[in-house]
Amino acid sequence: MGRSMAPLHGGDLRRAAALYGSREFIDFSANINLLGPPPQVLRVLAENLKDVVHYPDPHLEGLKADLGAFLEVDPPCILPGNGGAELIYLLPRLEGIRQVLVSTPTFSEYAAAAKASKVPVRYCPDFDHLRQGDMLFLCNPNNPTGRFTPKDQVLQLARKAEKQGAWLVVDEAFIDFTPEGRAASAAPLVGDFERLIVVYSLTKLFAIPGLRLGCLVAPPGLIQALGQLQPPWSVNFLAELAGRTALQDESFRERTRQATSRQREFLYQGLLAQKGLRPYPSAANFIFVAIDDPDWTGTTLTDAMGRRGILIRNCASFQGLEGDRHIRVAVRTQKENERLLAELADLLGGIR
Ligand SMILES: Cc1ncc(COP(=O)(O)O)c(C=O)c1O
Repeated sequence: MGRSMAPLHGGDLRRAAALYGSREFIDFSANINLLGPPPQVLRVLAENLKDVVHYPDPHLEGLKADLGAFLEVDPPCILPGNGGAELIYLLPRLEGIRQVLVSTPTFSEYAAAAKASKVPVRYCPDFDHLRQGDMLFLCNPNNPTGRFTPKDQVLQLARKAEKQGAWLVVDEAFIDFTPEGRAASAAPLVGDFERLIVVYSLTKLFAIPGLRLGCLVAPPGLIQALGQLQPPWSVNFLAELAGRTALQDESFRERTRQATSRQREFLYQGLLAQKGLRPYPSAANFIFVAIDDPDWTGTTLTDAMGRRGILIRNCASFQGLEGDRHIRVAVRTQKENERLLAELADLLGGIR
């Protein structure tokens, strides 16, 4: 290969251009809504660009009210932020956190956030042994595997954490893509617990990762404490506007769920038919795939696809996935999914 750089992270188009040459890529490496942003969001952004000369609202009362209605929680239980990632980084800074627990493989920013706050991280296959001061991160559905944890199991875990004096953080960045949709969310349960926290991201569902918007849902006292750790004006004016506009569009969410479900099934079946690949069932808008063909690794396959203008996620950088045998692909449009499958078949030797 002659390239000794670390694996590309999802959606890093600039580095992809440096590696594979400047061109139009089809990006399966970041898990963004295949429909793109709601059209009304793009219109409203264009119409209001001139107002960037003003500071954003530091209190965000309107956005909190809209998020509250959407997530079925009271506005004082909501802390908006500059994407879910910013908020994840605030959490280990809470007083009294002794250890962050993450199951593997999962989103790497939980451990990175703990390390940034000098909080020890323990990787564990399950959450059987909890202690006071532990903060557990549960990604639901899980990135990168697509595994879904049903609400009754989340509830059980929340009860167990509460009993032990531990915090349970449920990251629902991809929950709206699951067949259950909002009904699967633990956000409305937050009022019943003292130590349940939900992380929500609007960047996946509304396809605005470049704009950034997310929120935390937690009991009001915890929200106040976390808000004091956050810099002022974290949510910019355009992100607030985009979020408030997008949250009104219920039909967009329904269309998203239907299109994702159709294309997830199409892509899963297509991957299942490929020689040398083994996709995992997924509840999200991405699919985790094991590479069984000994002639290929995650790195060589990602690289070969990149040279063909198709970005997939090499999972070698995920803790717990040693051996370089996994990739993750986003669920995209029918035409794009067909192109992905055709290129994979060409490289791997066809269909079983
Ligand atoms: C599981 C998970 N949570 C949170 C995030 C952060 O999302 P954002 O900061 O764009 O809201 C991501 C981004 O990839 C993610 O995969």
